[in-house]
Amino acid sequence: MTSSEQIFNTLVLPYLNHAVRTYESGYASVSDIDAAMRFGCGYPKGPLTVVDEIGAAQVRDLLAARYAETGDHLHEPAGLLDKLVAENRTFADEAAAAGEGAAPQLKHDIAKVGVVGTGTMASGIVQVFAQAGYEVVYVGRGQDKLDGVVGYITKNLDRAIAKGKGTEGDKDALLGRLTGSTEREALGGVDIVVEAIAEDLELKLELFRDLDRICKPGAILATTTSSLPITKLGEATGRPQDVIGMHFFNPAPVMKLVEIITTSATSADVDETVRALTANVGKVGVSAGDRAGFIVNLLLFPYLNDAIKLAEGGEELATIDAAIKETAGFPMGPFELLDVVGNDVSLAIQKELYAEFGEPGFEPAATLVAKVEAGELGRKTGKGFHDYS
Ligand code: CAA
Repeated sequence: MTSSEQIFNTLVLPYLNHAVRTYESGYASVSDIDAAMRFGCGYPKGPLTVVDEIGAAQVRDLLAARYAETGDHLHEPAGLLDKLVAENRTFADEAAAAGEGAAPQLKHDIAKVGVVGTGTMASGIVQVFAQAGYEVVYVGRGQDKLDGVVGYITKNLDRAIAKGKGTEGDKDALLGRLTGSTEREALGGVDIVVEAIAEDLELKLELFRDLDRICKPGAILATTTSSLPITKLGEATGRPQDVIGMHFFNPAPVMKLVEIITTSATSADVDETVRALTANVGKVGVSAGDRAGFIVNLLLFPYLNDAIKLAEGGEELATIDAAIKETAGFPMGPFELLDVVGNDVSLAIQKELYAEFGEPGFEPAATLVAKVEAGELGRKTGKGFHDYS
């Protein structure tokens, strides 16, 4: 066996198994799991389609061999693989049996969108809505932060114009739809707010209480949190039926996925409106419940963590990155992606998953913890797993 194949078997097979178990548990549909990984991470195919292509029997047997070696429950073939083999069925059959839902409709008028935050995610989200023709009011903590959002968008648009995609006129029109403010009160007239501030529950609870006071009745309050309980944010307001998750991916203007997270209190109309809005801004929405990791992070971060553990065993980072791109066709190797996401963010997500699921295999890799302690967070600090200085 070549080393690339070994790396595929070590890192990609457990990811496929995890995707099968996620479907088997009823957490998400076949098409949403596959769309999540294609549009959230740029993978050429969703994991369940890949299982169909390799063959459920082959995936089961390769996993069984790995399980015999490691004894790790995460490598034990999902029961559904056996069932599909026995019944000669595929995930494509499962998806076809589930059928397609009707296209979602806007149940609330959405003309003006608010965004809170001025970081990378917030800036990307402002761009996404303005690009789709919405008026956007965005709120930050100082004029310099507001200017940073315009700088980020201008840079992206200038790059697109240089490639012959769009004109200076389009750029001016888009920037003309933006209103920056340092006062949250500016959000009084918006139809939906998307919050993308720091991943800190106390900060977000305070913000949601304030948004509840400021925003007009019926305005939807959405969060782009990837790891905090949305139910708690809803409970901090007098309108939990209007609170929902809209989890965008980095870089937001490029990645087409939005995970739409409903709590048990979110109304069906708000869910449908946000799914329709997601489609209107040219993104693909998938639905998931309010649980750590949703779909993408649940499947992505254990794989990234496994890659770090493989490197701890002596495999070269560049070899792993190259093998994954070659064998799985992922757009970035695990260490390249970790450096884009940021090791601090990755560690926080991995800790959440470990706490929620208690799988010993989800324990954050020691090197990830060490990188964060050393301040080697990735591209944003000039050094992470790879060096950018
Ligand atoms: N902002 C805006 N646009 C960007 C951009 C950015 N930061 N980076 C790249 N682009 C644009 C480029 O302008 C280019 O646009 P056109 O096609 O219109 O010309 C396009 O994206 C492709 O860029 P490149 O050709 O330069 O580079 P690429 O082909 O290597 O693609 C990539 C870059 C899209 C980022 C690709 O590498 C990819 O899909 N990577 C995977 C990213 C990923 O997995 N993200 C999920 C992380 S997990 C997460 O976000 C969740 C969480 O909770 C932490």
